[in-house]
Amino acid sequence: MSNKPTLDELFERRLNYPDIDAQERLGRLVGLDDHKARLTKIIGLLVNPSGLEAWAKKHHPSANGVLNVVLRRPPLVVLAGDVGSGKSELAETIGDAVARQEKIDITLFPMSLSTRGQGRVGEMTQLLSAAFDYTVEEASKLKGAGCARGAVILLVDEADAIAQSREAAQMHHEDRAGVNAFIRGIDRIGNGRLPAAVIMCTNRLSSLDPAVRRRAADILSFNRPDEHQRHAVLGELLKQFGFTKAQIDALVSATGAQKGRAYGFTFSDLTQRLLPAIVLDAYPSNAVSAARALEIAGAMNPTAPFQEDMK
Ligand SMILES: Nc1ncnc2c1ncn2[C@@H]1O[C@H](COP(=O)(O)OP(=O)(O)O)[C@@H](O)[C@H]1O
Ligand SMILES: [Mg+2]
Repeated sequence: MSNKPTLDELFERRLNYPDIDAQERLGRLVGLDDHKARLTKIIGLLVNPSGLEAWAKKHHPSANGVLNVVLRRPPLVVLAGDVGSGKSELAETIGDAVARQEKIDITLFPMSLSTRGQGRVGEMTQLLSAAFDYTVEEASKLKGAGCARGAVILLVDEADAIAQSREAAQMHHEDRAGVNAFIRGIDRIGNGRLPAAVIMCTNRLSSLDPAVRRRAADILSFNRPDEHQRHAVLGELLKQFGFTKAQIDALVSATGAQKGRAYGFTFSDLTQRLLPAIVLDAYPSNAVSAARALEIAGAMNPTAPFQEDMK
């Protein structure tokens, strides 16, 4: 195997929390309050178990056994589900909430497997092994007696290739090796009781590899926005353009499932395609109008749902 990538090559966008920008981005995510709360709690426990110990000392001083069960949870959380539903955005910003809650500094090591090298054999496996090496190394430095001085979150994004079952007959040998490297890495962090946690994002919900599933402290699933959530994304902005309640409702309904189309717009279809299209259509000579907005929504095709069985 060739040269191991450097820390900078592997994670060019390392992020440190608390960070005001991440806090704002996290706040802009709509309809994910339960996910935010759960993820903050789990990651908080994983990277800073002394928080739970302090809680137990206060409320349940004799409950050692239970504590160990909670603290021995594997250091992995999986975010799985539809495209454009906020998985990456949540994974890249939740560190801020955890850092504030636990009052420690947190570093995010983000890597995406979507580009997965240029297809060189062994490349994904090598990238994953190196990512876990750096994570373990950094977390080992931070592991203090009792309270961690800081913590690391490793984000493995676009991990469809390693999320799917190793048993799937069509799985490429390279992908299988990647799953194994991933599992080995999770176990290294868990066994070392390091102040580190791994977040894996994947579009595959139904075919998660059993060995990966077993190592997940939690699996959070993501879906397309329902009517209420589409309203939360669109309403405030459209009000600023002078839309009436009825006009906003019409647009919310036009972006949902329709006759002949079983699915509606994704969150990112709304924020990154529809809203910009409405503004750019009016710019530079006209004001935004509700009638045009409805036409634009009607002509736009939402992103097709991820096909689990296609590769
Ligand atoms: N729950 C949400 N609330 C508001 N905007 C969202 C939400 N989910 C996604 N978006 C928008 O879509 C963009 C893409 O989301 P992303 O997290 O990359 O999706 P994915 O689930 O595919 O990783 C975000 O940057 C944001 O603008
Ligand atoms: Mg993503």
